[in-house]
Amino acid sequence: MNHLNVALVGCGIISENHIDAYAQHTDRARIVVCCDIDPEKAASRASLVGDARAVTSIDEVLADPGVDAIEVCTPHHIHPEAVIAAARAGKHILCQKPLARTLEECDAMAEAAASAGVVLFYGETNRTLPAALLAEKLIAAGQIGTVVGIQARAAHWQGGVYMTTGWRYDPAITGGGQLLDGGIHAIDLLLHLGGPIAAVSCYTTRFRPELGGEDTAVVNARFSGGHLGTLFASQAAGIWVPEANCIVFGTDGVLTLGGPQGALVQYRRDSPESKQVLLERNGDSFAAMVGRYLDTVLNGAENISPASVGRENLSVVLAAYESARLSREVSIDSRPS
Ligand SMILES: NC(=O)c1ccc[n+]([C@@H]2O[C@H](COP(=O)([O-])OP(=O)(O)OC[C@H]3O[C@@H](n4cnc5c(N)ncnc54)[C@H](O)[C@@H]3O)[C@@H](O)[C@H]2O)c1
Repeated sequence: MNHLNVALVGCGIISENHIDAYAQHTDRARIVVCCDIDPEKAASRASLVGDARAVTSIDEVLADPGVDAIEVCTPHHIHPEAVIAAARAGKHILCQKPLARTLEECDAMAEAAASAGVVLFYGETNRTLPAALLAEKLIAAGQIGTVVGIQARAAHWQGGVYMTTGWRYDPAITGGGQLLDGGIHAIDLLLHLGGPIAAVSCYTTRFRPELGGEDTAVVNARFSGGHLGTLFASQAAGIWVPEANCIVFGTDGVLTLGGPQGALVQYRRDSPESKQVLLERNGDSFAAMVGRYLDTVLNGAENISPASVGRENLSVVLAAYESARLSREVSIDSRPS
């Protein structure tokens, strides 16, 4: 196969980013169907794509032999049923974050994809972010010496005009609050750049009752490698501070990701004045993600964001919730069950 026909399943807020992303890969893929249980949303996204069909049932999508793959952009409590059904229908899958609400669901999704021989790509834009991939290489090459700690942040205002959806603010549906919805992006950076996390301790709080779950959290992490990490996550912070959102501290230097200085900046101990901008901009993070996915499906490249990445990210979120509930450190066992 050298070209992928994709069905977009879930035509809400984030689907537009996926449409824009595929528009940058027209030589390798195109969106042929837009599916949403809300016919108006399906029709509106189909007209945005231009020549896509609008449908209201995923069953119709999965029965269509002209569809090679689906892009799961539904609320995350729908992800497991959509992914498992798609795998059984022999479709490749890119599934938005968070992968699911439980580790058992993640395992069932991975298992369904593996037994069907289809690609299941976890759609976490930070995992495929050019700055994160370059930072991973530099850290592995010892560019900043031994990593001693990582600070990450996912803090902004949510709701109002930004990310407003009914399901998102009902913990009975989502299984969590800001950590599961937004903080999980930063947890991916912690894991990607710091390696496995052995244990976490977490505090959660809420300033905005209308958001349902916790809207603010701090997670302290003990990495298996002995270094430490911390995450501040909030949906109640007035603005998105335009500063680095992840800082990796090493014995010989520091890497910063994001912010006005550049997408990836290195500071070295042997030349403290010489800040080096290693990457000016990340570009469109959704287009980068789709590009890596297409490399895997069409060219057999390694899947750099398999279901196990989504599972590990979720395992940290769930351990953090457990820690907040028990008011103590909680160990993480992220091995497949
Ligand atoms: N930066 C990011 O990567 C990012 C940002 C926002 C959302 N997301 C993720 O994208 C997913 C969707 O979020 P959103 O903000 O677009 O939500 P949304 O509520 O705006 O859109 C979800 C859409 O799915 C539709 N839907 C629900 N059940 C369906 C079904 N069975 N079949 C077809 N359509 C169905 C809904 O009608 C709705 O239009 C979530 O997993 C979310 O976490 C990721």
